[in-house]
Amino acid sequence: MENIKSWTAEDEAIIATNTDATECKRCAVELGYWKDDYISYFVRHVDRKAPEINRGYYARVRAMEIFIHQFLERCGTKCQIINLGCGFDTLYWRLKDTTQAVGNFIELDFPAVTSKKCHIIKRNKQLLQKIANEDGEVMIREGDLHSDGYHLLGCDLRCLAEVRRKLAAAGAGPHAPALVLAECVLVYLRPDAADALLRHLAAAFPRCALLVYEQCNLGDKFGEVMVRNLSARGCVVAGARLAGSPAAQAERLAALGFDAARAWDMEAVWRSFPEEDRARVEALEMLDERELLLQLNSHYALCVATRGDIFADMDLNA
Ligand SMILES: C[S@@+](CC[C@H](N)C(=O)[O-])C[C@H]1O[C@@H](n2cnc3c(N)ncnc32)[C@H](O)[C@@H]1O
Repeated sequence: MENIKSWTAEDEAIIATNTDATECKRCAVELGYWKDDYISYFVRHVDRKAPEINRGYYARVRAMEIFIHQFLERCGTKCQIINLGCGFDTLYWRLKDTTQAVGNFIELDFPAVTSKKCHIIKRNKQLLQKIANEDGEVMIREGDLHSDGYHLLGCDLRCLAEVRRKLAAAGAGPHAPALVLAECVLVYLRPDAADALLRHLAAAFPRCALLVYEQCNLGDKFGEVMVRNLSARGCVVAGARLAGSPAAQAERLAALGFDAARAWDMEAVWRSFPEEDRARVEALEMLDERELLLQLNSHYALCVATRGDIFADMDLNA
């Protein structure tokens, strides 16, 4: 029997951050920042966002993709991807359209989010046909969607026993290399819960890479405003844990059981993109406030932590 949980107002506010992320991604896709044939199934209408927001999302999505491809280049597609706090992320379908569809793709989020995602998948043939088996079927068990190579699981990441149980039910294990994604998720967990989760994952997967995209440098004035804005919306975030620089965050990750970790703020990430790529993106929209983009970029970081020699050379410019 599943536990019947009641969600707090804080949980509801956290769940709503998925709508924001999906709307921002759809807006940027519509403006031509990157291609995503699937995002429009998950959110219908969006208002236009500020150019700085669109540019920020571009760097976030592209940076994640760069490292996802580095991971797949090193270990091939007989691997597992575990997407923590997946929201309405479309990565599974985007990879499915390339030669890089992976062996086992596992997505975890609150049941309120996964049940909506499941509903949208079942309603849209273009999404469903990339998941279903040859008979066009998917299995729904205890509210979770299971198919050959794709699992969408409702669970609270703060509850380690539940995470372990769900991952086991989805066939995750140490037999294959694992890529763990945490895109704007861990910030919503209390530091001890985030640490316990990552420590468990590092121990469970001897060959793995973890990508964490989240805030950094929150100790300064701009960072304090970011924390205040989030808490005004009802999200109590792990502000103190994210007060440090990207390097401090990498150190923290390494101490949780990874062999190595590196991190960059998003300004460094943006500058690492090829010049023609930056020029294309810069031509899409005029920036109203260049200073605001710089501030935003220096308050978000991408961290990469790895276990296993095969992933030791994953780097921004590898
Ligand atoms: C800002 S959204 C990001 C969604 C997706 N990773 C992306 O970048 O598009 C944060 C997601 O983390 C999920 N989340 C936060 N805390 C969680 C928890 N304790 N258990 C499960 N999911 C959680 C939220 O429900 C939400 O879908």
